[in-house]
Amino acid sequence: MRNLGPTGTGADTQGGSELLRDLQLALSKPPHAISPKYFYDAQGSRLFDRICDLPEYYPTRTEWGILSEHAAEIAEVTGPGTELIEFGAGSLSKVRLLLNDMRPRRYLPVDISVDHLHRAAASLRAEFPWLEVAPVAGDYTGSIDLPPVAWGARRIGFFPGSTIGNFTPSEALEFLRRAAQMLRGGGLLIGADLLKDPSVLDAAYNDAKGVTADFNKNLLARANRELGADFELSEWWHSAFFNPAHSRVEMHLISRRDQRVHLGGITFEVAEGFSLHTENSYKFSIEGLRGLAAIAGFRPHTVWTDDRKLFSVHWLIAP
Ligand code: AVJ
Repeated sequence: MRNLGPTGTGADTQGGSELLRDLQLALSKPPHAISPKYFYDAQGSRLFDRICDLPEYYPTRTEWGILSEHAAEIAEVTGPGTELIEFGAGSLSKVRLLLNDMRPRRYLPVDISVDHLHRAAASLRAEFPWLEVAPVAGDYTGSIDLPPVAWGARRIGFFPGSTIGNFTPSEALEFLRRAAQMLRGGGLLIGADLLKDPSVLDAAYNDAKGVTADFNKNLLARANRELGADFELSEWWHSAFFNPAHSRVEMHLISRRDQRVHLGGITFEVAEGFSLHTENSYKFSIEGLRGLAAIAGFRPHTVWTDDRKLFSVHWLIAP
């Protein structure tokens, strides 16, 4: 692919849009990859919710089953008098499965999407009137400014959904290192998707209704909406496959033909077969995740899984 250089006028190429910069970079040079965080505007979040309801997409429902089945035991190992901190909390749906058993003193959902977070916090307060909910606006991949821990309380982190699978191994280690420090004296409850028959993964990321394809293409749709780009969505293939050398499902958008795209005042000539790498979703072995956690400073404790061994939830003690 050849970058023809700036041809338009009035485009905002500096300042303003991080998406614009990252997408221009991804189109311009190898490894032609962009962070999956850009999937999640309002439309992308709705598409993700629809993915979670698909029969082929097992992770959400399986983790849900594990958390609800083992809530009492989870409460037992995490202990009383805790402050529960959820990373990338979103709609606060999974924590509801734990609250009645865990009875934390305070719940601190951390998320970058502030408006959504405050609405979700309000509905959680209505449902659990005894619970103190203190939303924290922040990016959990960086350092978060948490309020001082309540006297005598222990901090328990909650990171469900196998969101850790979106990190590269070194990012995952970095995240776990920070978490182990932040949660010292408490621990981390984390969900991790497991390695499994690739045909199960293939079905989950190539669903029959094409919702995952729409979710993937939402990156381009979003660039059209927000940046005035002119991606022709029907001229891109959704591609998702398990890459065993890296233990990850990769998603790509592949150009069906030679085409021209205008983005932020730059014209990109995209060749037939050009592949934009949009997501990695790492899959773990139970021992692999525990090993990574141990390197990061945790003492891996209990693991819960489903009978098909599709998904795992780990209790990691932060000494
Ligand atoms: C939210 C990152 C856990 O990797 O399965 C769903 C996102 N991508 N279908 C995952 C996703 C395609 C999801 N995570």
